[in-house]
Amino acid sequence: GVKIVTIGGGSSYTPELMEGLINRYDQVPVREIWLVDIEEGKEKLEIVGEMARRMWNASGHDVQVHLTLDRREALKDADFVTTQFRVGLLAARIKDERIPLSYGMAGQETNGAGGIFKALRTIPVILDIVEDMKELCPDAWLVNFTNPSGMVTEAVMKYGHWDKVAGLCNVPVIAMMSEPEAIGKTPEDLTYRFAGLNHFHWHRVWDETGREVTRDLIEAFDRLGRTPGTPANIFDVPFYREQLDLMDMIPCGYHRYYYRQQEMLEHMLEEAQSQAGTRAEQVKQTEDELFELYKDPNLDHKPEQLARRGGAHYSDAACETIASLYADKNTHIVLTTRNNGAIPDLPEDVAVEVSTLVGKDGPKVIPFGALPAGERGLLQVMKAMEQCVEEAAVTGNVGALLEAFTLNPLITAGETARQVMNELLVAHERYLPQF
Ligand code: NAD
Ligand code: G6P
Ligand code: MN
Ligand code: MN
Repeated sequence: GVKIVTIGGGSSYTPELMEGLINRYDQVPVREIWLVDIEEGKEKLEIVGEMARRMWNASGHDVQVHLTLDRREALKDADFVTTQFRVGLLAARIKDERIPLSYGMAGQETNGAGGIFKALRTIPVILDIVEDMKELCPDAWLVNFTNPSGMVTEAVMKYGHWDKVAGLCNVPVIAMMSEPEAIGKTPEDLTYRFAGLNHFHWHRVWDETGREVTRDLIEAFDRLGRTPGTPANIFDVPFYREQLDLMDMIPCGYHRYYYRQQEMLEHMLEEAQSQAGTRAEQVKQTEDELFELYKDPNLDHKPEQLARRGGAHYSDAACETIASLYADKNTHIVLTTRNNGAIPDLPEDVAVEVSTLVGKDGPKVIPFGALPAGERGLLQVMKAMEQCVEEAAVTGNVGALLEAFTLNPLITAGETARQVMNELLVAHERYLPQF
């Protein structure tokens, strides 16, 4: 039987993960699941852990769900370790959003200064987890879902020297699920190819005859006046048609923060100043409601309300990755993994988010080819930015952090940015031992 360990087990997304594993039980015979959390998340862990137990009982499969605050006890002999933790919980995310916005800069979970600080808090923790894995489960796969998923995964490879890692995101999954309908197709009809970085990738699409339909999708979205596949947490400002025609690719939902920076910033400022509050403040409400539902001893399936979270359907990526690794399925999955030439515009050894085929030896990238000049430039800047953030996260070097701020297109470098940086360093001091 298979042993799965989930770090950040108290997450409200855990029922999704359980549902995904239950649905794939015939492919992955799970024997035990260990949900790991820390003192701060103990109450959440107990509530969602009981919910997970009810889901497995209802499924009729004999699976033990263990709840623990002892990570090392859990990791012993694990086959798969999934990570979905949030250092500092939503209170820290609210600061990542509010502090930059108070200086007129984007405040977002994985983008701009807030996203950079989420990486600074998270990378030291993931590197500790990797050290424990080397000792306690050296053959396990690490399936990382913790954001910023691309930088966290790259840090595992580059600084943790751990190659059995796959970074995940639901954005490609929901694009593949929701776009085909716009051109009268089903997901089974179409072939997708993705390339870029996490929350910064583009894709192209072909139909069952091998004809490229990327342009048909671009036209259909234009007619609809919206972009299907945009995650629930992202304000759907349309991309400029002329730019899409030039690049001949479909950007990901998060690209709006760059191609429509002004409108996205205006929207974030407006929400932050209104009754609605920032996204994290909205999520706090949804999370409270979800945990009230999870307390119901009769609830034994994933509730509808979870779809309000931007990460809905992530379990399709996470569980399909586990199933493909375990059962050698060779499925097309979009993952953060080592470039290996998939994107010739970036070095071989950096982490990229691309189409792969996943089998027992891990993901094999599907070459995407060179990008158009504009997108190549954006991508190279963002990769350099990520590398500076990872260096700062590992060393506590403020020079590297200022470099990252300079490179990041959502941050105007200078004295205001330095103030934002200093305020964030103080606000998150507890979680930034490296500084
Ligand atoms: P959350 O705030 O509910 O946190 C999940 C749990 O992590 C909490 O119970 C918390 O106590 C725990 N935790 C914090 N520090 C920990 C540590 N050091 N060790 C173990 N557990 C720890 O978060 P959430 O909203 O459920 O999101 C979880 C993570 O998944 C976040 O990093 C989020 O950004 C990410 N996420 C990723 C995607 C994706 O597409 N990759 C989608 C949704 C969420
Ligand atoms: C998206 C992303 C995730 C992100 C989430 C935010 O779908 O892919 O990486 O964490 O949404 O959702 P939330 O509901 O927390 O704002
Ligand atoms: Mn994501
Ligand atoms: Mn900048």
